Amino acid sequence: MAKQISHEEVFTRFVEDFRNEESVLKYEQAIQEMPIKGIRSLVVNFNDLYNYDMELAAEVMKDPDRILELFSRVVFDKLRQRDLVYAEAQKKIHVRIRALPSLTPLRKIGSEHISRLVMIKGIIVRASATTPQVMKAVFRCSNCNELNYIDQDGETLKTPIKCEHCDSKSRFDLVPKLSVFMDSQRVTTQERPEDLPPGQLPRSLHVDLKDDIVDQARPGDRITIVGNVDLLQRFGRGGQLRIFDMVMEASHIEVSGREAEMTDISPEDEEKIKEIAADPWVHRRLIQSIAPSIYGHENIKESILYLLFGGVNKNLPDLRIRGDINVLLVGDPGTGKSQLLQFAAKIAPRGLMTTGRGSTAAGLTAAVVKEGGTGNFILEAGALVLADQGVCCIDEIDKMREEDRGAIHPAMEQQIVPIAKGGIVATLNARTSILAAANPTLGRYNPYQTIGQNINLPVTILSRFDVIFVLKDVPDAEKDSTMAEHILGLHRSAGSTITSSIDPELFRKYISYAKTRVRPILTEEVITRFRDFYVKMRTASVEGGEASAVSITARQLESLVRLAEARAKAHLRVEVTKEDAEAVITLMQSSLEQVGIDVSTGQIDIDILYTGKPRSLQTQLQKVLGRIAELERTGPVKDDDLYEALAEDGVNRSEAAKLISTLMRDGTIFSPRPGTYRRAS
Ligand SMILES: Nc1ncnc2c1ncn2[C@@H]1O[C@H](COP(=O)(O)OP(=O)(O)O)[C@@H](O)[C@H]1O
Ligand SMILES: [Mg+2]
Ligand SMILES: [Zn+2]
Repeated sequence: MAKQISHEEVFTRFVEDFRNEESVLKYEQAIQEMPIKGIRSLVVNFNDLYNYDMELAAEVMKDPDRILELFSRVVFDKLRQRDLVYAEAQKKIHVRIRALPSLTPLRKIGSEHISRLVMIKGIIVRASATTPQVMKAVFRCSNCNELNYIDQDGETLKTPIKCEHCDSKSRFDLVPKLSVFMDSQRVTTQERPEDLPPGQLPRSLHVDLKDDIVDQARPGDRITIVGNVDLLQRFGRGGQLRIFDMVMEASHIEVSGREAEMTDISPEDEEKIKEIAADPWVHRRLIQSIAPSIYGHENIKESILYLLFGGVNKNLPDLRIRGDINVLLVGDPGTGKSQLLQFAAKIAPRGLMTTGRGSTAAGLTAAVVKEGGTGNFILEAGALVLADQGVCCIDEIDKMREEDRGAIHPAMEQQIVPIAKGGIVATLNARTSILAAANPTLGRYNPYQTIGQNINLPVTILSRFDVIFVLKDVPDAEKDSTMAEHILGLHRSAGSTITSSIDPELFRKYISYAKTRVRPILTEEVITRFRDFYVKMRTASVEGGEASAVSITARQLESLVRLAEARAKAHLRVEVTKEDAEAVITLMQSSLEQVGIDVSTGQIDIDILYTGKPRSLQTQLQKVLGRIAELERTGPVKDDDLYEALAEDGVNRSEAAKLISTLMRDGTIFSPRPGTYRRAS
């Protein structure tokens, strides 16, 4: 019978023999490069090992701790032969395993995985500061002064039970200078929102990172980790408990980019996607596929469509211009805002729904918290960070925490969350599109006040939204009846009234496809169109009188570019066309009209958004409302009384009639009987 070949021998041959597709001795070369690159880990692709020796690969899966330790000795010896000084200078050489053939869902990790090698995917939600952890502790015996060496593992420090030299059980003092320490970091990973079964809370798992793999991933990063599952002892009042916490000891960690998502798109999917894009009615179909159960709100759906696709990020040497589009919906309760947000969070690849208060202590941005047990500082990611490279839907954004009010500015413009607290200095990515909803402070939206006066948000935050829309709950008999029909129809036949919308699963793939494959560029024609529009709007506002009435700023110009790029992307076009430009100008105008038009001059006045200065019409309408309020004390207001009172204010009859009809249209006042008026409550 042949002599049993040891695992070390097989692994040695693997390293010496394994050639990749280019016939390169991949692992020999990697070891050779370790001193040059200053690294002390050899990363082995599981598949390579499996193809070389199935049995050894199986052993690694079954008993990773022991086998990887054997491997690391092989690599250490090889490294010593090549570069003795470098090898000896390393505290430890690691062999790390990447890319297992199968993924274990985070929520399935359980007792059967203990001490086994598994691969998980998740988002890092929390990370501790990097702290030194003792691996080999050296103690001096206080009796004989000799040294005792103890290898460390587990949570608590192991001290000698008795001195190995004099047998005494006296006091032992740790000698840090002779002990071996290694950087360590504990992170918490959480299931990715898209892996979450409907209606379930995300599960999380602690992962310990040691030595050269600490600080490789930050909160908000999506990672793939290969490691083995260990148990953490828990102590109760009566001693050690029978229940344990699980913790993963990472062998290898990888931060995943967007490409990963593309693997879900099959060639058949691609065909269907191209088919949709080739449909001459593609635009209508796309808009109809946005929250099909919500009636109307075409402009809003159109902007949500663009938000889902996004513009093109530009990384210039000295600055980064965001391509992500932010949309704010302000409006009366019950107008479908939350529904629209929920839809977007569900359909968007990497979508996330939260509220202004945030779902965790970290709120919308991030928090540094002190961990109960160890007193370590832990950095926890908030919603905008967790939605990095995705869409963050924030309902009731007006209710956000004080801490977030300051931190949200860089998150919205530079798309980063800088942290410097409790010894943790980090910059987290928040490259996300924000779809937010806000309720008016006073319950209902008052169209004669500015957005800033209507909702509890500073102008500095408002100005970071590319488009803002107002949803008013205006009674309108005809519209109400169509809407009722629409809603009841949904209930009657569970969605069969909606025919041409794209199946949500395919729609998500469509978005993924467009986002990863299409990078539209602006044509000369489009640039000219935007320039002309910009210049015209700027001059119009100067001619309009007050020089302060700047109607459009560079910020809107950037927004137009983003929206137009997104529109081209939605059609899978590589060029932004004139048609895209016209469409987004119209959309932008309608948004501006809702939030800042001066109706009397017909001019869009973005100034109102910023300064909150009431313009001419606003004053006039307030006069009418004031008079109605006054006269109303004695019942419904008769029109003749109203005209008379207004004449005293210098408002002539025809002007008054116009103002009254504007107020009627908005639903601010109504007519209980012909010829009488009342304010709507
Ligand atoms: N335009 C609409 N079309 C269909 N349903 C609507 C519409 N507006 C409101 N609803 C329905 O009214 C309810 C309240 O909507 P919701 O999204 O919670 O409003 P909001 O968040 O604006 O207060 C939901 O059930 C929603 O489906
Ligand atoms: Mg709501
Ligand atoms: Zn001793």
